This record gives sequence, C-alpha cells and structure tokens, in this order.
Amino acid sequence: MTTFSPESKVGDIAVEQPSATRSFYRFGIDFCCGGGKSLQSVCDKKGIDVKDLLQDIKNQGEGIVEGPNDWKTSSLSAIISHIIISYHEPLRTELPRLKGMLDKVQKVHGHADPERFEQLQTVYTSLIDELSDHMMKEERILFPMIMQGNGANASATVALMEMEHDDVGEALREISRLTDAYVAPDYACNTWRALWSGLEDLEKTMHQHVHLENNILFPRALLTSN
Ligand SMILES: [Fe+2]
Ligand SMILES: [Fe+2]
Repeated sequence: MTTFSPESKVGDIAVEQPSATRSFYRFGIDFCCGGGKSLQSVCDKKGIDVKDLLQDIKNQGEGIVEGPNDWKTSSLSAIISHIIISYHEPLRTELPRLKGMLDKVQKVHGHADPERFEQLQTVYTSLIDELSDHMMKEERILFPMIMQGNGANASATVALMEMEHDDVGEALREISRLTDAYVAPDYACNTWRALWSGLEDLEKTMHQHVHLENNILFPRALLTSN
C-alpha cells in the first residue's frame, strides 16, 4: 500500500488508492476538479487536521487489494469505453428521469417552498443542457482524437472539457446547497425523498466520472501522439 504525505496531491491519491475517495467524501474534499491540490492545502482551507485525514485514508486502504480495474495501465480505448458505458449512457436516462420527478414534486409540493424549487429548476435544467452538450463534444471530438493516438494535439479541447467540469461541479454544489445536502424535510413524500437521493447519487457518480477523465484519461492522452 502506498504511503501518502501532506504534500501528496488529492487527485494522485484517488488514482493510486481508489478507496481513499471514501475519505474524501467523508471530509467533503473535491478529488475530481480540485485534484491538483495538496492534502495540506485542502486541509488548511477546510480546517481539517491533515493527520486525521491521512489516518482515515490509511484505514480505508487497510486489507483492500485495489483493483481489478487499474486504470493507470488500461488502454485508453478501454477507459473511454468504460466512461461511455458506465457514465455517459446512464446519464442520458437518469437526467430526464430526475427532471420528471422534479417537475412532479414541484407541481404537488412546490408551494411549500416556491423559491427553492424555482432555483432548483433553473440550476438543474441548465445542468442537463450543459452535460448533454459536454458529453457530445467528448464523444464526437475529443475521444476520437484520443483513440486515433492524437491526444497530444488535443490540449485546447482538454482544457475546455476541464473548464466545463468545473462548471458542472459548481452546479452540483449549488444543487447540494438547495437540497440541504440532500436531507428531505420530515413532511416530504416518497417521490421527494427519491428525488433528493437521486440527485445525491448524481453528484457522487459525476465525481467518479470527472475524476476518471481529469486525473487519469486526460493526463495520459496528452502524452500520446502518432
Ligand atoms: Fe464524460
Ligand atoms: Fe467530461
């Protein structure tokens, strides 16, 4: 098992030891878009004792044999197929499914907190548009370039995708805020509860998805040329 230090980068730890992402969730640390920061700097910002976090990361890794998917050595085309099958395709069903639930809950219970639901609709609707457009660009432009071994010429597109990931991360943080970190009020109906939990899953899955792209696929792809 790798030993990490306060200087280790959050994204590198998530790549080396995927079980560490459980610690990052627990401590509220962004390991996908904020992956380039050191543990010490994120701890300083959040008022966390870096020793506690390092211990928690160590505990998570204890007795676990990481894998079998070691993305550091998988082919780039295998990583891309995995991204499309495990993240892009499910999002194309999940995003409209949650929108349908949001519409329903707003219609029936929106009067309980109209402003919150209106803001949620605004943020969520633009998230659907942004993500649909973003995935299309990855699948039609960036991924084909990488598959052709032309990743070294894709730095501008990669930079754009990373910026869009930051925007998606911001929208998800806003959704988390608007849902009180996905805690439904006591009087919420089952659909409302299922909606909050679906939005929570969406955020977690997006973190894994963006981590795979930002910290594993893109850095390796940028080094490849024909
Ligand atoms: Fe993607
Ligand atoms: Fe992406």
